Amino acid sequence: MRISIIGTGYVGLTTAVGLASKGHGVVGVEKRQEQLDAIASGKSPFYEKGLDELLQKVLKDGSFTLSSDIGKAVMGTDVSFICVGTPQGSDGWVDLAAIRAVSESLGDAIKGKAGRHIVVVKSTVLPGTTLDVVGKAIEERSGKKAGEGFGLAMVPEFLREGSALADFLEPDRVVVGVEDDETGKVLFALFSESFGAPIVMANTKTAEMVKYTNNAFLALCISFSNEIAQVCEKTGQVDAYQVMDAVVKDGRITTYGTGQPSVPGIASYLVPGCGFGGSCFPKDLSALSHLAKKVGIQQGLVERTLEINHLQMEGVADRAERILGSLKGKQVAVLGVAFKPDTDDVRGSPAITIIEGLQKRGALVSACDPRALGSIEGQFKGSIIYAKSAQDALKGADLAIAVTRWKEFASLAPEDFIGAMKSARVLDCRGMYDRQAFSKKLEYHRIGYIQ
Ligand code: UDX
Repeated sequence: MRISIIGTGYVGLTTAVGLASKGHGVVGVEKRQEQLDAIASGKSPFYEKGLDELLQKVLKDGSFTLSSDIGKAVMGTDVSFICVGTPQGSDGWVDLAAIRAVSESLGDAIKGKAGRHIVVVKSTVLPGTTLDVVGKAIEERSGKKAGEGFGLAMVPEFLREGSALADFLEPDRVVVGVEDDETGKVLFALFSESFGAPIVMANTKTAEMVKYTNNAFLALCISFSNEIAQVCEKTGQVDAYQVMDAVVKDGRITTYGTGQPSVPGIASYLVPGCGFGGSCFPKDLSALSHLAKKVGIQQGLVERTLEINHLQMEGVADRAERILGSLKGKQVAVLGVAFKPDTDDVRGSPAITIIEGLQKRGALVSACDPRALGSIEGQFKGSIIYAKSAQDALKGADLAIAVTRWKEFASLAPEDFIGAMKSARVLDCRGMYDRQAFSKKLEYHRIGYIQ
């Protein structure tokens, strides 16, 4: 199939390269010339495992081309995917400016096209947006009716940073929201031929809601674990990690066949920590919470999930202060600034809130991260020490806070801390270290178990 992808950001480029590798002819449409040039040279503008290699392959075999012209791309393809950003607006709702602009351009192009074109929304948008914003704009500009003159659909993405390409190439399910049978048939064929995954056919509003619900459920698991951690900490002598680990062993979560226990992926979200971040959970939950309130649900679970997350991130500097007495003039090493391992993304990262909290209390921060340190330089400028390695960050520090579970940090031994720090104290925000082993050799605290 001939496909155009509008927007070559994180979702767009992964989708484009993935579909091209499945044998489709794909055009990536991007208005930022710099981004276009970087991609055309075979270099993704962001880090994602395996993406550069596959990008270079599909560019070379000609299955992926680039353009800055939406009109031409629509003429030369059968389906367009809208993959532009839907950031959080200043009011907590979704900023639809880019979606609107692209929908209008698509409408102009569809007006002059003889054949039936299909527009698929892949950007994360609240229920009703595909119909009321995208569909309406295209109808107005093209003079054609959705479902008749052009097809309209919503197919949410479930890509995790760090494993986006693998998630795209081997999805666990594809949700296809459509309003008319013809569009449904074309997209069902496209996705069933390209992927072996189950396909959930629904209307566009349901498809839009699936994405928010999915992210809210995962974030809820994290905040639930963090609330339990807060209760454990305040109660004393209860290890929240052991508690959650034992809960996950419940046969209704972990399944026990005849062989090894099968631990589901959700188990990794049922772990205490210093809160969730990233480009999706915080903004999607904020939008969903606004929607819940709008339809009359006050103080719902989604709102609480966000509040607990905020408290959890903010509370790390308080814990550091409790451990050291006062943070004034003390050096605190922050191990990890990315919002999770295997990415250079710091959007919504707990590390940023933690560093700000430490600075506010008078601490000098030395931070390190295998990939993401450059991403915080613009924000913290010369006010922190940018260390090249964990060893550098730990040098002379009074406290180390383990924030991101990079394997470089998880593999540190008590001796690594003892050898480098002024006084070996660790606050483990990810349950990375063996409590018994560490506690024997140094002063060890973890979220959910402060000594
Ligand atoms: C998320 C969804 O998982 C994905 O389906 C959606 O399309 C976009 O949002 P992403 O933001 O890349 O993807 O990250 P994810 O791996 O889900 O992590 C989100 C937050 O949860 C992070 O702060 C991370 O630290 C935390 N997390 C993640 C856990 O606590 N445990 C995990 O196992 C994974």
